[in-house]
Amino acid sequence: MLVLGIETSCDETGIALYDTKRGLLADALHSQIELHVEYGGVVPELASRDHIVKTLPMIEALMQQAGITAKQIDGVAYTAGPGLIGALLVGASLGRSLAMGWGVPAVGVHHMEGHLLAPMLEDNPPEFPFVALLVSGGHTQLVDVQAIGHYALLGESVDDAAGEAFDKTAKLLGLPYPGGPQIAQLAKQGNPGRFTFPRPMVNRPGLDFSFSGLKTFAKNVIRAESNAAGELDPQTCADIAHAFEQAVVSTLSIKCKRALQQTNRSRLVIAGGVSANTILRVELETMAKKNNAQLFYARPEYCTDNGAMIALAGARRLDAGQCESLAIDVHPRWPLTDLAPL
Ligand code: KG4
Ligand code: ZN
Repeated sequence: MLVLGIETSCDETGIALYDTKRGLLADALHSQIELHVEYGGVVPELASRDHIVKTLPMIEALMQQAGITAKQIDGVAYTAGPGLIGALLVGASLGRSLAMGWGVPAVGVHHMEGHLLAPMLEDNPPEFPFVALLVSGGHTQLVDVQAIGHYALLGESVDDAAGEAFDKTAKLLGLPYPGGPQIAQLAKQGNPGRFTFPRPMVNRPGLDFSFSGLKTFAKNVIRAESNAAGELDPQTCADIAHAFEQAVVSTLSIKCKRALQQTNRSRLVIAGGVSANTILRVELETMAKKNNAQLFYARPEYCTDNGAMIALAGARRLDAGQCESLAIDVHPRWPLTDLAPL
């Protein structure tokens, strides 16, 4: 089954062609970072308007590049939520309309299910069951995954998501949006041990997270270290970035270890934008080894938003016979645990 996937939930237009037998055939991504950078974050209306301009030409170009005609496509998958409503509606109306025109089924994919299944695009895909750490700009969740659609929420952030904490702390340090990759880059020059940030909620039982305190902690350190003109020297900036990244990574690692022990699972999948972080991958690799577990993740470009993960997740659901009615429907808020099993 050959599926066209469309991702337009936030500030990336992602298009992909995924075949259930042959795997990923082609994918393309357009990032809107330049469009939003002067505002320090995503402006929803600008995001929707840009998706309108980009999505259809990108689909045409990708099909041409892959040598695929409309007749060969067996289904269409688009992100139906969670995300920005206007941005979601662009992908949903286009995806639904193409499917109707082509006479094939369409399915609305849950963005976080897309992230969760992205490691299956790789050569050594994880088998079910596993524990998944979903770490993106909008979500930080630990999920026990028995199979597609069999999701039990183990814990989640009670305030900011991990990616959001990276973005907000980056802003305080004067770094551009999105802050995660910027902090990771700067942290490489940081001196370990100059600052120690707290590891929020690790001394409490349970698997929930809280990251908003880290941003406040960063704000206080920045204030204390700034000169009279409110400026930080570059080395101090790097030292703060290092300490912040370490705090997020070790907090996530402590909770992942706890989740593996609690569920007795031997596989850990990490997904979402923050799972592209190298320090997180290294730390979790070490933790997993010590706990006789195996770690799985996608290559960095499939950790952040992309069309390939939506095409894959949609293909699995369409292949199992699930599809939508002709109505165009999106869900800006959509708990992962509401999904139907396959
Ligand atoms: O999954 P994603 O592309 O979009 C959402 O669904 O939210 O995640 C974006 C988030 C941003 O907060 C970004 O700063 C963060 O992922 N991110 C990173 C890295 N790359 C992206 N955070 C830390 N280290 C990275 N290398
Ligand atoms: Zn995402």
